Amino acid sequence: MRILFIGDIVGKVGRQAISDYLPKLKQKFHPTVTIVNAENAAHGKGLTEKIYKQLLREGVDFMTMGNHTYGQRQIYDFIDDANRMVRPANFPEEAPGVGMRFIQINADKLAIINLQGRSFMQDIDDPFKKADELVAQAQKETNYIFVDFHAETTSEKNAMGWYLDGRVSTVVGTHTHIQTSDDRVLPQGTGYITDVGMTGFYDGILGIQRDEVIKRFITSLPQRHVVPDTGRAVLSGVVVDYDSQGRTKHIERVLINDDHPLD
Ligand SMILES: [Fe+2]
Ligand SMILES: [Fe+2]
Repeated sequence: MRILFIGDIVGKVGRQAISDYLPKLKQKFHPTVTIVNAENAAHGKGLTEKIYKQLLREGVDFMTMGNHTYGQRQIYDFIDDANRMVRPANFPEEAPGVGMRFIQINADKLAIINLQGRSFMQDIDDPFKKADELVAQAQKETNYIFVDFHAETTSEKNAMGWYLDGRVSTVVGTHTHIQTSDDRVLPQGTGYITDVGMTGFYDGILGIQRDEVIKRFITSLPQRHVVPDTGRAVLSGVVVDYDSQGRTKHIERVLINDDHPLD
């Protein structure tokens, strides 16, 4: 089984990058399943039903989310029916949506789990304990378990990778929007990367227009975040190969932009 995972799609430029590059990436890598993080897909914050459906039409099989899950009010109207999406599992139980789903791929089942970190983030339930609970549940059904750990600090993500080594197929980090170069297979067979990086406006700051962000750092005053609709794009992802036991055989980064064109 081969997974193509693409990191945080930010706004229109990110969605356009999916339209432009996903067919080419599929041609190049022939993934069995394509998963994207869609927490920033609608104007940089959250997801609408229209965009959810559009991404599925364009060849995305599944979406993970993060701290911006509830950024668009209309998510409440469709999240319960969105069976191709998970939101962080360690949100309080009262929050709409679910944190783990299974998808069937021919004879195999893949569990997709979304968790969110707590260091320099919202104070939600313990992602490590939630991981224990969900992984035990998933293991009853399948060897193939994919985890998107949406977290701020490299240490918390590193800790989750090692904590789940040998129990899940992959732990990919998302949320910082900057790709790290530490993709590896941990000793017990879990593929790992601290952050996959984002898919969106290449000449901004984490996908956002630069001026307001720089102004905020200089003035310490709140500024509006502007997510541009046009501009050069970056696409960030990973390709992961599993053996029949659900261990990662190989993990490789994908980064496409004008400085690293797709070959
Ligand atoms: Fe994000
Ligand atoms: Fe995030």
